[in-house]
Amino acid sequence: MSKLRTIDDINVANKKALVRVDFNVPIEDGHVSSDARIKQAIPTIVELLKKGAKVILASHLGRPKGEKVPDLSLSIIEQTLRTNLPGVDLSFVADVVGSAAKSAANKLAQGQVLLLENLRYEAGEETNDLGLATKLAGLADIYVDDAFSCAHRSHASIQAVAELLPSVAGRLMEKEIGILNRVLETPKLPLAAIIGGSKISSKLGVLKNLATKVQYLIIGGAMANTFLYAKGHNVGTSLCEVEMTEVVNEILVSASNHDCKVVIPIDVVVAKALEANIEIENVKVELVPQEKMILDVGHGSIKKLGEICKICRTVIWNGPLGAFEVSPFDVGTIAVAEKIVEFTRAGKLMSVVGGGDTVAALERVGAEHAFTYTTMAGGAFLEWLEGRSLPGVEVLED
Ligand code: 3PG
Repeated sequence: MSKLRTIDDINVANKKALVRVDFNVPIEDGHVSSDARIKQAIPTIVELLKKGAKVILASHLGRPKGEKVPDLSLSIIEQTLRTNLPGVDLSFVADVVGSAAKSAANKLAQGQVLLLENLRYEAGEETNDLGLATKLAGLADIYVDDAFSCAHRSHASIQAVAELLPSVAGRLMEKEIGILNRVLETPKLPLAAIIGGSKISSKLGVLKNLATKVQYLIIGGAMANTFLYAKGHNVGTSLCEVEMTEVVNEILVSASNHDCKVVIPIDVVVAKALEANIEIENVKVELVPQEKMILDVGHGSIKKLGEICKICRTVIWNGPLGAFEVSPFDVGTIAVAEKIVEFTRAGKLMSVVGGGDTVAALERVGAEHAFTYTTMAGGAFLEWLEGRSLPGVEVLED
């Protein structure tokens, strides 16, 4: 069995540690609007500093595609990082692997932190270029990857560099992998997965894999419309991937072969358009009016999902149940989140949630920290749910 190398397996004292973090945070008007990802990286940085390391932080921000886009400079997050590392001697260098970065790295003393410029200013980052990786490796003595949320990317700062230096997982990476392994590979049963979002086509691999692993596969969001359509229901003017009907039927067969119940809404909230303050109606799925669209799960479905969560011991959630960004179509997502929080708080349920939209929905009701674990990983979480091995994890395993 593969074993993840961690900070416990390496001597960090007096070493220059290149730490891959995910500071790909939301920026509004030139400022960090949520520092959640930065906060998550702090324990590893602090531990390395306490153990006598010199820390070099490397991250991407946005998708500048090899261009020096000023709006995506890591200098934007410097102040927020400083606030999260009180008392730490932190400096920023406007360079990734050039002579300025090299000289700043060489001048680092124990306990000091250097933040590099946006990795994706370098064209070789996204192509996993060995030349860039060699230069990155040249900045440090050891490599620590604390960016699980980037582990699905075969990029130079994630994969190639890890093969050039003694490399280990940071504490966040270690924790995320541990929790995700536990919920998918050795969960307390019954296990339910709630998968929402608009398109089956974008979560096909996830649905196929989960149908073989979970006892309840709960489908929400517009992708539930395609399931309803495949079962012969009229979905009015709802978003629906008619061309995925065959695929839906395959998922239903696979689920039934694996004793997995696929749960789709029994009633829905419909309206003429996706607009706030518009007239809404709660109807059974057999009675969706031709001129209306499904925008949320209905009261009956919410009650049913609450009952399923009550009998489950583990729940994984990705994707909202309705068009949550427009009220009142957030009611289903919020009501089910509240049930999960109630059972989690009572110690009856292990709940793991991930994905930008889902976490944003929970943030609106302050429930994002009330789950057993909230991962900030989006794409990496989805690929994990697909059962794929992630290049950034593989390279850290013995
Ligand atoms: C994320 O935000 O999910 C990670 O930082 C990866 O970003 P990317 O999708 O631009 O590779």
